[in-house]
Amino acid sequence: RKTHQPSSYHFFNEPAEVSLFRSRLLRWYDQSKRDLPWRTVAMTETDANIRTYAVWVSEVMLQQTQVATVIDYYNKWMKRWPTVQELAAASVEDVNEMWAGLGYYSRGRRLHQGAQKVMSELAGEMPRTTQGLLKWLPGVGRYTAGAVGSIALGLVTGAVDGNVTRVLCRLRAIGADCTSSLVTDLLWEICNLIVDPERPGQFNQALMELGALVCRPKSPLCARCPVQTHCHAYRKVTHITFSVAILYYGMLSKMGGGHSVCFCEGWARDLGVQNYPRKPVRKAPRVERMVTCVLRCRMTEDEDEPQYLLIQRPSTGLLAGMWELPSILLEEDIPGKKHRALLSAEVQRIVGTSPDEDSFQYLGEVVHIFSHIHQTYVVYSASVGGSTERDREPQSRWVSASALQEAAVSTGVKKVCELVHVLTGLRGLCMRDISIYISSLFYIVMSGKCCLIPAFLIL
Ligand SMILES: *[C@@H]1O[C@H](CO)[C@@H](O)[C@H](O)[C@H]1NC(C)=O
Ligand code: SF4
Repeated sequence: RKTHQPSSYHFFNEPAEVSLFRSRLLRWYDQSKRDLPWRTVAMTETDANIRTYAVWVSEVMLQQTQVATVIDYYNKWMKRWPTVQELAAASVEDVNEMWAGLGYYSRGRRLHQGAQKVMSELAGEMPRTTQGLLKWLPGVGRYTAGAVGSIALGLVTGAVDGNVTRVLCRLRAIGADCTSSLVTDLLWEICNLIVDPERPGQFNQALMELGALVCRPKSPLCARCPVQTHCHAYRKVTHITFSVAILYYGMLSKMGGGHSVCFCEGWARDLGVQNYPRKPVRKAPRVERMVTCVLRCRMTEDEDEPQYLLIQRPSTGLLAGMWELPSILLEEDIPGKKHRALLSAEVQRIVGTSPDEDSFQYLGEVVHIFSHIHQTYVVYSASVGGSTERDREPQSRWVSASALQEAAVSTGVKKVCELVHVLTGLRGLCMRDISIYISSLFYIVMSGKCCLIPAFLIL
């Protein structure tokens, strides 16, 4: 056992319990399992090389695709390429064609590459150990190696996938983040210990089948579960006395100085056994409001291409070195009427002069979500004349509308520019072309979760 030593409550410590568990699970599996083509091959094929190849193909197909979808593809594939030799001799085009519709195409290509590797480097003999499977077959990880090894080759090893994770976390009331290495290591340890040495492949499939048919993510069928008497989650939600046991074992494990894989907080009564497995906590996005300004500059009255002001972000941190419009993070509860004053002061700071507060025109709002920030830009526009002391701030520059589209600006700024583009385009047309007007309006709605009402107002 490793050093972390979770309490025995989260493990299988009694050999008698383990053998009872195995026999109950396997008896249920023998009666209830679905008949699937790869299961038949694993049971009836006498050539170990073909068996390994066939189970490998099925496991790769099942990696991201539902069982029901895989069945047809699997049968066609095995009919066309019944052995690793035949797959290796296929063309990439044929493999891609056969895979079409299964998704994640790299899986098909990796099967093909793996087959060619087996031919060229292993003289056509599929690896016979989990280490060998891991080493020689591209895209085969710990789970797939364990599954192929146990199902096709009878190797005594566990295989922990999403279904097994859920079942074991419930059985052993493991309430810590199931994606943490603490928990995954523990689950592999448990699985390697309880796997039936007589029927390892069927034992692993039985655990997965239990997860798929009985111990389902939502509405598990505990009343019909063959291993209910071994299930701590079930007992925890049905017998109050077990809360005491958990408390007791939890204390023990803490006194031992190890990490606890118990459920420490956030138990939801109405979720019952579905409190397990515990997923990592996703942080709520940070909510930010920025007031931002599209500042135009005309050198002379009739100059047709106005210039726009861009500021460069600091060279470190979020969006380092990107260009953006002058903007200010709004502290909480700053009333709308203060926006113009804030912008005016900011423009003054950057270019040394600023339009009247009143000439900042409200355009609307743009919502943009990125890396855990939920950002709302409150967008204004304004113009400054040609007689400004330009580029006082070194990290600023004036660019034309077309250069603006090319500049290294973030998606949020692009969305703001789109809003402005649509609105100014409209005004240029003086609303004569109603059809463009309407389609532009749709554009606003579709593209940017922009605020529609202000868009009307400024027209
Ligand atoms: C669990 O099993 C079901 C049915 O076999 C399958 O559709 C699903 O993808 C599996 N889920 C995980 C997370 O492995
Ligand atoms: S008793 Fe319920 S929660 Fe426990 S293993 Fe069975 S189905 Fe899953």
